[in-house]
Amino acid sequence: MKSKKYIAPSLLSANFLHLEREIEDIERAGADLLHLDIMDGHFVPNITFGPFIIKQIKSVASVPLDVHLMIEEPQRWIEKYIESGADFLTIHFETDPHLNRVINEIKRLNKKVGVSINPSTHPMLLEYVLEYVDLILVMSVNPGFGGQEFIENSFKKIKWLNNYREKHSLEFLIEVDGGVNESNVGLLSNIGADIFVAGSAIFSKNDYGKIIKRMRENL
Ligand code: DX5
Ligand code: ZN
Repeated sequence: MKSKKYIAPSLLSANFLHLEREIEDIERAGADLLHLDIMDGHFVPNITFGPFIIKQIKSVASVPLDVHLMIEEPQRWIEKYIESGADFLTIHFETDPHLNRVINEIKRLNKKVGVSINPSTHPMLLEYVLEYVDLILVMSVNPGFGGQEFIENSFKKIKWLNNYREKHSLEFLIEVDGGVNESNVGLLSNIGADIFVAGSAIFSKNDYGKIIKRMRENL
């Protein structure tokens, strides 16, 4: 049976002057999740927004919020992000030497937990977390900005994760984020990715419904 596939538009590329309208439009267009990119200007060279804005987004959103923390010392912020409305909370492998503890904390608060890896991090390093997490987010660009080009060796990582998942009968989802578009989404899906984050590929178009439909046809 074909597993469920999720399209998660990244609001990073939305028009923040009309955020509520953008959220309504993207949900009507068929978004399964809203992907929210949190950047602190330390772990990544950009700053976005925090729990205050997430809370406002939550008050108008109907689909689950997929919160991608690109921040140092994520353990200090877990409760705040969960209180603000995160349904999936993903932290970066590179930001915390005590991943096991943070994963347990997010699970204790009854939320879905994810771990993300940068383009230069081998998924093999996740071997001892894979059985505890709900998702692994493979960064297919260097985190920090939308609109960058997909890094090709991400395919290898997704294959590695998918093989490991099958071999050990695990159930974590594989999410891919960065440079995802209509042309690569089909191949990413075939090799095992489940959640497709796309910012510029969707928000640069006038008709969000049409592009999401075209992407979904390739899954
Ligand atoms: C980048 C973010 C992405 C970004 C993707 O650091 O994690 O979620 O919004 O944007 P596109 O789809 O334009 O590469
Ligand atoms: Zn992201």
